[in-house]
Parts: sequence; C-alpha cells; structure tokens
Amino acid sequence: MPKVQFSTSSPVEQSDDICVIPVFEGPQPGAGSREVGRALDVDLRRLLEENRFRGKVGEVLTIPTLGRAGPGSILALGVGPKAEATPERLRRAAGKIAARVSGFRRVGVAVAPAGRGSADGAVQAIVEGLLLGAYRFDRYKGSPADEDGTTPRWQTVTLFGSGRQDAGAARRAIDRGLIVAEATAWARDLVNTPAIDATPDVLAREARKMARQVGLECRVWTKADLEKGRFGGILGVGRGSENPPRLIELRYRGAGSAAPVALTGKGVTFDSGGLSIKDAQQMEWMKSDMAGAATILGAMRAIGRLKPKVTVIAAIPSAENLPGGSAIRPGDVLHHRGGKTSEVLNTDAEGRLILADALAYLAEKKPRLIVDAATLTGACMIALGDEMWGVIGSDRRVIRALLQAGEEVGEPGWELPLWAGYRTQIESSVADVKNIGSRYGGAITAALFLKEFVGDIPWAHMDIAGTAFAERAGDYWPKGATGNPVRTIIRFVEGQADGGPKRG
Ligand code: BES
Ligand code: ZN
Ligand code: ZN
Repeated sequence: MPKVQFSTSSPVEQSDDICVIPVFEGPQPGAGSREVGRALDVDLRRLLEENRFRGKVGEVLTIPTLGRAGPGSILALGVGPKAEATPERLRRAAGKIAARVSGFRRVGVAVAPAGRGSADGAVQAIVEGLLLGAYRFDRYKGSPADEDGTTPRWQTVTLFGSGRQDAGAARRAIDRGLIVAEATAWARDLVNTPAIDATPDVLAREARKMARQVGLECRVWTKADLEKGRFGGILGVGRGSENPPRLIELRYRGAGSAAPVALTGKGVTFDSGGLSIKDAQQMEWMKSDMAGAATILGAMRAIGRLKPKVTVIAAIPSAENLPGGSAIRPGDVLHHRGGKTSEVLNTDAEGRLILADALAYLAEKKPRLIVDAATLTGACMIALGDEMWGVIGSDRRVIRALLQAGEEVGEPGWELPLWAGYRTQIESSVADVKNIGSRYGGAITAALFLKEFVGDIPWAHMDIAGTAFAERAGDYWPKGATGNPVRTIIRFVEGQADGGPKRG
C-alpha cells in the first residue's frame, strides 16, 4: 500500500510525477484549476475548451507542464456537474483513472469539494476509488505486466485540500479510506481465488490469520465439532466433497455487555449444484458462491481496525457443494442446529441449508439483530440486475438501516417483500420445511426458508447474487469479484455503535 498523505499547500508547487485536478462540468472548473492556470500561465478553461474537454465523469486530459510547475504533468479529470457531485461520483472518477496513474511513483490529487457531502467524505471517496480502481487479481499470472494490469507503483499519494479544511479530520478520512479499501480488496481476493485453492478449511485459516492481525477472537468449528453441535445443514451440504465443511466464528468486542450485532454469510466455496447439478455455463463463476462469507469476513477485518463502539459476532458457515458419492440426495431430510428439519428437494438450493444452521446458532446468542449476506438466488438477479442487492427481512429498522448504509457508500440495494402468502410453498409433507418453492418469487421463498431459523430476533437477509461478481469491469472494479457489499456492512455496523453513525 502506498503512503497516502494530506496537504494544504498548492498541488502545483509539489514535485509529484503527476497531479490529478478534478474538473466540474459547467462554468466553474473547480478545485485547483486556478492555481494550475496561473502556474502554467494559461487560461485553463480555454485550454480545456480548445481540447473539447467538457468535464463529463471520467473524461481526462493530460497537460504536460514542461517544467513550469512542480508536477511533471497535470491530469484534468472530469467529475460531472458540480450540483450533482457526490462521494460516489468522486469514487468512480478516481477509480477510472487509477490504472492510468498507477505507473507513477508520486501522485497528487486535488480534492474537489463534493457538492453534497463533506470535504472529508470527498477525501475518503478519492482514496477508496484510487485503491479499489487499481485493484488487480494477478496472483496466478506469470508476468502481471500488461498495460493496466500492473499493481500500482505508487510510493506516495498526496491529497491536496484547501487551507480551510481541517487537516486532522482529513487524515482520519484517509485512514478510514485505506482501511475500508484494503478490507474490500482482501474480500475480493478471497472471492477471486479458485475453489481448488479456497476450500472451507483455507477460508477458515485465512479468517483466523486475519483475526490475529486485527485483534478479533476466532473459533473454527471442524467437521467433528459440527457433528457434536448438530449442524446438520452445513454437514449435509459438505458431504459430497472431499473438502470438509467449517464454521468460522468471530467476535469483536467494542461495547461492554450490550447485546451484539450478529452477522453471517454464505460460504459455499464451489456450487456445482450437487446432484441437482448445474450446466457448465452456470458453473463458470461458482467459485464466487462464498462471496457472502467474504463480505462478512472483509467487514470484520475493517471493524477490527476501525473499532466502533459496538460488539459484533459472526458465524460463517462454509462447505463445498459437490456431487460425490456421499452427497445428499433429493428427498433427504437434514436436522438443523436447534432441531428443525428440512427436506432437500433440490441440492442446488444449498445456501439456505448452511445458513439455517448459522442463523439458528446466532439466534441462541440473543443478539440485538442478525444480518446475513448470500449469493442466494438467480431469482434476485433476475429481479434487480447486477447493480443492486436485494434485502428481505422481518424488521423495518434493520432493512432501512441497510438500505441507507448502501446508499451512503455507493452500493445501493432494494427491498423485496417477505410475503407470508408464499409460506405454503415451502411446506413439506415429511419435514418442517422444504428447500424450494415454485418457479416464481424464488428470492422470497428462499428468505421465507431462512426466517424459520431466526426465531424472534430482528433480522434482514441480503441477496447479493447480482452484485458480488461482475462479468464486466466497472468504474472501480475489474471483471470478477466486486467486494460489494463489504462497505455497506461496515457502514451499517458503525451505525449501530454508541453515538450513532460516523460520518465520512
Ligand atoms: N449459488 C446459487 C445462486 C446464484 C446463481 C448465485 C447465479 C450467483 C449467480 C444458488 O445456490 C442456487 O443455485 N440457487 C438456485 C435455487 C433454486 C434451485 C431454488 C437458483 O437460484 O436457481
Ligand atoms: Zn449457491
Ligand atoms: Zn446452488
């Protein structure tokens, strides 16, 4: 990671290799442009106009300084109309140029005051955009050196704010941005890692290592432990694979005796569908079926470092869904943690089977609320596409807080109903519930299944099947794992802390 610093001096006086100047679309170019014009002895607005630079989001123009200013070159970066400026706009704009500036050692960025949002929010968004935009997963490449495939050479990144900005607060915003971006990138790595190398045991080891690094308590339940604890859902799904299942338990103690926030996430390290096997194309990205687990692990990593005043527990189930000789069959009945039974009519609806155990286990701890994140249904992707996660739950306040957190960090979600009328669809003739409903409303029947296991604890489920993995690159993520919604969970948890949500 580069050293990221804050300065209130003029960006044109620093000897950075390149300095990024955000430019608004419209009459006032904004941050730093007057200084740039003066230093280069040009009318910057005219220069931009002559080059047909309009300031649209992500538009860039490189201006060599030819020794007239500190930086070797100035990169004008369009950030759209000033009135529409948001932290997410800046994050996206910064993400778009991250690869372009990743070859330079010393990078400067002038901080554009985002119209809506604080200057510190802008600082944090730029840090996140740059780091997340430069993220590459090149561990498996012999020479990771194609044009925008390089890991950044940044030694220092300097953010230039106005003299009016509180430097202490800006530095804290930088630290937050670094922590959040690093945790998100770490979660992306877990999701991008092929299933052959990211087994439930490996996931648990990574979690344990992470817990040690950031100061969390960690307990890993082995297969034998899960048998003793009667986690029949996790064990059932894991039966078809040589790689035994795990349950990863984490605790962050941020508040005395107050009831904790409880988190869980689906950790299916590969989803072949089991005996209800998927076709080849549907299986291509199924190494990402542990993105819910990675989301919660990534969020816990950041939480351990940000230290909000709230206690958080997580219990993350992980199994590999393969059709080996001992695999569960359609018609089998599983005995979940807590005693409820489920009839497995489709072994490809496995996420809910492992989450059922984890939810029941967390409910035993009487937390103040439970949130789960899971790449649970194709139905949710059909409903909301790949830019919004779905949320379904039993508690309005939890749902609203998640939606709000997502909106604040640029990872929007949308609510779907927990429609009790469909409960009859998961009635089983032999067990307490069955694991599939009819063809329609699949995201809802999946949530109704989960609801059976949370008792009366306020709960919300996030279906992230659409947002966790991108088939095409976005503004601050390459093709593959997006890390969405790690930042939402972090923000949500901070909102649960004493003293309310932290800004920025
Ligand atoms: N992991 C899948 C859901 C999924 C699909 C995630 C596409 C990401 C992209 C899940 O385990 C699954 O297979 N769900 C089935 C449920 C059905 C059998 C009731 C589905 O959505 O088709
Ligand atoms: Zn799955
Ligand atoms: Zn499945």
